[in-house]
Amino acid sequence: MASRSDDLTSLSVRRGFLWPAVDLYGGFAGFYDYGHLGTALKAKWERAWTSTFLGLGDNYHRIDTATILPEASLKASGHVDHFTDILVTCTRCKETYRGDHIVESVTHREEEGLTPADVDAKVRELKIRCPKCKGELGPARPFNMMFPVGVGPLGVDRAYLRPETAQGAFLNFKREFEALRRKLPMGLAIIGRAYRNEISPRQGAYRMREFVQAELQIFFDPATFDSQLPVASVMGEPLRVAMAGEKHEPTAKDRTARDLVAAGLPPFYVYHMAQVQRFYLDRLRVPRDRFRFAELDERERAFYNKVHFDVQVLQDSLGGFREVGGVHYRTDHDLAGHAAGSKNDLSVLVGDHKVVPHVLELSFGVDRNVWALLDLGYDVAGGRAVLRLPLGLSPIDVGVFPLLSKGGMPERAEALHAELRRDLDAFYDDAGSIGKRYARMDEIGTPFCATVDHTTIEDGTVTLRERDSSAQIRIPADKLGPALHDLLTGRAEFKHLGPTVVKN
Ligand code: GAP
Repeated sequence: MASRSDDLTSLSVRRGFLWPAVDLYGGFAGFYDYGHLGTALKAKWERAWTSTFLGLGDNYHRIDTATILPEASLKASGHVDHFTDILVTCTRCKETYRGDHIVESVTHREEEGLTPADVDAKVRELKIRCPKCKGELGPARPFNMMFPVGVGPLGVDRAYLRPETAQGAFLNFKREFEALRRKLPMGLAIIGRAYRNEISPRQGAYRMREFVQAELQIFFDPATFDSQLPVASVMGEPLRVAMAGEKHEPTAKDRTARDLVAAGLPPFYVYHMAQVQRFYLDRLRVPRDRFRFAELDERERAFYNKVHFDVQVLQDSLGGFREVGGVHYRTDHDLAGHAAGSKNDLSVLVGDHKVVPHVLELSFGVDRNVWALLDLGYDVAGGRAVLRLPLGLSPIDVGVFPLLSKGGMPERAEALHAELRRDLDAFYDDAGSIGKRYARMDEIGTPFCATVDHTTIEDGTVTLRERDSSAQIRIPADKLGPALHDLLTGRAEFKHLGPTVVKN
């Protein structure tokens, strides 16, 4: 029987979401290409992310920055010295493994925060051999994950592909602070590509070597940030959290924001956890029991973070809760590092005191989020394949069909399609039976289909079918555009728009 992951891979490849890059030549591990539907889904996720997170402050903006950075800047950020994974190589067949993965393959639990000495000790204790040839594993050692590039015709200027978009925001902080009239908090968001030479890219698009991040860096004065936010408005909100010692269990506990603050988390941090949770539960429609924040302890968290919770979604195709983002309190690590590295003063004057702003980072992997939407949405039960994407995120908003290829129906349907596609993603289809056309739209997540039939010619109404219920209502064709806008933005409910004519 095909696994969940096989089903999703088949859907992705067959219908045009994503697949391994360069598959003409057998693929290129860790690199993926997006087809027409995947590109549209990704763009809609990015749009939803942008409107949600830039909406958190009136001084939050998108910027777009270089993807190749000189060594000096990444030395100052700490990436040259600390951005490492642990590499283990088989002494016989030379296959390479990530230290934590090779241990996990035996313990069957996540092993974050191990040092090379820990990995060596576990390999000895658990008698772990090379999974491929059963050879002896060599000593574990740190491996820097950045891709070096030689810049200039002789390639002598050492540089790296950026390992995170975040650095672009730190490097441009001072310019934007001046351009935006010296106000804190200031948010700089970047959506763009990041590159990591992952030791073992695996689980499809989950661990890639080239991927897209959507990251918002919020620069703030730690003395005043809490008081600048409506923190009280979220204090009663239950957040789904697994603390560091609990996250090996596939569950989470509801803890109110107030309790998390009482347990020592900064109020501004918890306030933003609540915003992230709302994005997942309300906007992306992730079921509550499939969402959680998972705490990383001191050994596990990234070298630049003081407080670090991963954002995780329970995905059947990946076998459990998997990271799709993170809420990172980076303190003044980055600006202080770049101030020292560049010998530029990056402190700013706020009122009567000087401060090196601290940074709260809301960080997301776009590819992982797109995959999570496919995983959560794809339903093949009962012989009907439906991709239940959240409203407004489907690549196509509405399918437009003539019921028959005669009686003036194609002309009316084409005219309707031309009108709708002015400001919606509308798709025209007249091939095959109407049932097959609905099925094709269901499988790629199209939430609504409008059909021009005999009655349309008589009274100007069309049928509008809803993907999730497969119910149909009749609605005047000239009211369809506004009705679809209301449906897609959640301002109207399908069942209230008109009389149901068919309920499958
Ligand atoms: N700026 C902070 C930062 O880069 P991270 O946890 O290393 O933090 C942020 O990465 C997000 O980027 C992750 O939560 C994940 O969604 C995504 N990401 C990281 N590595 C990835 C990879 N190899 N493939 C796909 N997505 C990745």
